[in-house]
Amino acid sequence: MKIKLFRGYFFIFILSVLSPQLHADKNSIPSGNIDNNTCIVCHKKHNPQLIKDWGSSIHASTQPVTDCISCHGKNHNNSAAMARPDKTCIECHGGDKSPVVHSYTSSKHGIIMRLEKNTYDWQQPLAQANYRAPGCSYCHMHDSNHNINSLSRDSLMDKKAADNNETSIRSVCQDCHAPRYITRLLVNGENMLEIARKKVREGAGLIEQASALFSESELKPARQVMEKMQHHLKNVYLGVGHQSPDYQWWHGHPALDGDLLNIKGIISELYRNKDTKAP
Ligand code: HEC
Ligand code: HEC
Ligand code: HEC
Ligand code: HEC
Ligand code: HEC
Repeated sequence: MKIKLFRGYFFIFILSVLSPQLHADKNSIPSGNIDNNTCIVCHKKHNPQLIKDWGSSIHASTQPVTDCISCHGKNHNNSAAMARPDKTCIECHGGDKSPVVHSYTSSKHGIIMRLEKNTYDWQQPLAQANYRAPGCSYCHMHDSNHNINSLSRDSLMDKKAADNNETSIRSVCQDCHAPRYITRLLVNGENMLEIARKKVREGAGLIEQASALFSESELKPARQVMEKMQHHLKNVYLGVGHQSPDYQWWHGHPALDGDLLNIKGIISELYRNKDTKAP
C-alpha cells in the first residue's frame, strides 16, 4: 500500500518537474482581458498544432479575422465552455434565418439541441459521452480541430471536392451512428447533389444556346434566375451536409425545378417574340 502511494506521489513529482513551463504559464495568465496576440504567443508553446490549424483556416484569412477572442472571449475564466454552444457561430454565419443556420436548426440534430441545450454541461469536451446531439462546433471542430475548412468545399459544381472531406465527415458521424448507415447517407447525398448540378448545367446550357441569337440585355432575366439556381444548389448542399429534409426537398430540389421552368419560359418567350417580329 505504502509503496503504491509513494509511487503515486513520485509520479506527480516527476510530472511537475517535467512541466515547469505549464506551471509558469498557468501562473502568468493575466486575470483580466487579454488581447488576441497574447493568446497566440502563449498557446503557440502549448498547442503548436492548434495554432497552425487555425492559421491555415479561412477564419484566419478573411477580414475581419475570426480570432481566438471571437469564440473564446477576452477573459481566460470560461474560454472553452463559452466557445462550444451554437450561439458562438450563429451570428457571424447569418443569424437564425440564414440557410447555413436554418438548415441545421431544421434538422433532427438541431431540434434535439434546441430541446436539450440547457441540460448539457458545456464545460465538458465535445465528445459523444457528453452530448447526445451535435452542435456546430461538435461537427466542424471535431477533436478540437481549429481548421474550420476541414468540412467545407471550394466548389459545389466539382464532384471531386467531396472526396477530400469524406474521411473527416465520416469520423464525426461515426461517433454516434453505424458506419453502414453513414455510408448510405453519404452516397445518397452525393447522388442528390449530382442531380442538382445537372439542373444547374441544364439551365446554363439553355442560356448558352440562346446567347447565339439574343443580346445580353434580352438574356438578363434568365441570367438572374441562374444566380438563384446557385443559391438553391447551395441549399441542396446544406440540406445534405446538415441532414435537413426541408433543405433537400423544399428549399433545394423543388426550387431548382422552379428555376429551370422559369428559364425555359423566359427563353421560349424570346424565341416566340423573335418569330413574330421576324419579316
Ligand atoms: C500566459 C499563457 C497564456 C495566455 C496568455 C493564454 N492562455 Fe489559454 N491556456 C494557457 C494554459 C497553460 C492552459 C492550460 C491549463 C489550463 O487549462 O488552465 C490554457 C487553456 C486554455 C483553453 C482550454 C481551457 C479548457 O477548459 O480546456 C482555452 C480555450 C484557452 N486557453 C484559450 C485562450 C485564449 C482565447 C486566450 C486569449 C484571450 C488565452 N488562452 C491566453 C495559457 C495561456
Ligand atoms: C470558431 C471558433 C473558435 C476559434 C476562432 C478558436 N477556437 Fe479554440 N476552441 C473552440 C471550441 C468550440 C473548442 C472546444 C473543442 C472541444 O471541446 O473539443 C476550442 C478549444 C480550444 C482549446 C482547448 C484544446 C483542447 O484540446 O482541449 C484551446 C487551447 C483553444 N481552443 C485555443 C484557441 C486559440 C489560442 C485560438 C486562437 C488562435 C482559438 N482557440 C480559436 C472554438 C474556437
Ligand atoms: C467573428 C465571426 C465568426 C465566428 C464567431 C465564426 N465564424 Fe465561421 N466564418 C466566418 C467568416 C467571415 C468565414 C469566411 C466567409 C464565409 O464563408 O462566410 C467563415 C467560414 C466558416 C466555414 C467555412 C465556409 C467556407 O466558405 O468554406 C465554416 C464551416 C465555419 N465558418 C464554421 C463556423 C463554426 C462552426 C463556428 C463556431 C464554432 C464559426 N464558424 C464561428 C466568420 C465567423
Ligand atoms: C452533424 C454535423 C454538423 C452540424 C451539427 C453542423 N454542421 Fe455545418 N456542415 C456539416 C457538413 C457535413 C457540411 C458539408 C461538408 C461537405 O460535404 O463538404 C457542412 C457545411 C457547412 C457550411 C458550408 C461550408 C462550405 O463549403 O461553404 C457552413 C458554413 C457550416 N456548415 C456551418 C455550420 C454552422 C454555423 C452550424 C451550426 C448552426 C453547423 N454548420 C452545424 C456538418 C455539420
Ligand atoms: C453526438 C452524436 C451525433 C453525431 C456526432 C451525429 N449524430 Fe446524427 N443523430 C444523433 C441523434 C441522437 C439523432 C436522433 C436519433 C433518433 O432518431 O432518435 C440523430 C439523427 C440523425 C438523422 C435523422 C434520422 C431520422 O430518423 O430522422 C440523420 C440523417 C443523422 N443523424 C445523420 C448524421 C450525420 C450524417 C452525421 C455526421 C455528419 C451525424 N448524424 C452526426 C446523434 C448524432
